[in-house]
Amino acid sequence: MRLAKPQRDPSLFRMLAVRLLVAAIAALLAFFVCRGIFNPLRGGPPPASLVSRAEAASPDTGAGAEAFAKACKVLLHPRCVNCHPEGDRPLVGDRSRPHPMHVERGRGGLGKNGLFCTTCHQEKNQEYDHTPPGAPEWQLPPEDMKMVFEKKTPRQLCEQLKDPARNGSRTPAEVVDHVRDAPLVLWGWHPGDGRTPVPMPHAEFVKLMSTWADSGAPCP
Ligand code: HEC
Ligand code: HEC
Repeated sequence: MRLAKPQRDPSLFRMLAVRLLVAAIAALLAFFVCRGIFNPLRGGPPPASLVSRAEAASPDTGAGAEAFAKACKVLLHPRCVNCHPEGDRPLVGDRSRPHPMHVERGRGGLGKNGLFCTTCHQEKNQEYDHTPPGAPEWQLPPEDMKMVFEKKTPRQLCEQLKDPARNGSRTPAEVVDHVRDAPLVLWGWHPGDGRTPVPMPHAEFVKLMSTWADSGAPCP
């Protein structure tokens, strides 16, 4: 069955078509203005709010913070934490127990009451379990710059590692230099008999830390 169409005034159609076209153009303009692609009121770059939102969500920042979080598998491992304790005694073993024989940090981190670190800790590991591990200049960080890793969340550790007041006046790039070259850090990969090494290849750890530093040291 066909409905009889009422006769329409052709000018009505034209008016409708023109209105539709105007609406479409307006919508398109609104879209471009909103996206900051075209701004009839202001020439120049898109508004700062749009830029900062884009930067905050950019994959670079995410990648840097994610890299740091992964690097914490090393940084927060007992091999590193044991020399970066909260208190004034070094820690020992995978369960990070206080160092036997009441060894303490002492002045400059070198030991106290005649129990100086390098009396027992030589430049190299000794053979057999439970003998003193060794690497050049074995010591704790000094008492006025304790560099505590123990019990830190990845975010807290990140904030500390990029703070020159707490990291020995290092830039993030210099923190990377340290974890690449320092003998006490490298020891974590060769800790001697009976100790678990840190759980990731050294090159991979350095790469994660570089990604973090190169992207402006963002925290997870
Ligand atoms: C009297 C000897 C002696 C002195 C002094 C000494 N240590 Fe030790 N240290 C040892 C021995 C022995 C071990 C091995 C303990 C074990 O594996 O059960 C050890 C283990 C450690 C470990 C454990 C490593 C790990 O991850 O398991 C750290 C860290 C450490 N010492 C730091 C220090 C620091 C820092 C000083 C100086 C402030 C120091 N020690 C002074 C004898 C000593
Ligand atoms: C025998 C003790 C010892 C061990 C083991 C050790 N460190 Fe350290 N660490 C130190 C001392 C001492 C300093 C301060 C040295 C300086 O400022 O030059 C330091 C400084 C640092 C710093 C730079 C300063 C900062 O911001 O904290 C980083 C990063 C660091 N250590 C990472 C590690 C990592 C990662 C490991 C494990 C793979 C590790 N350390 C194992 C003693 C140790």
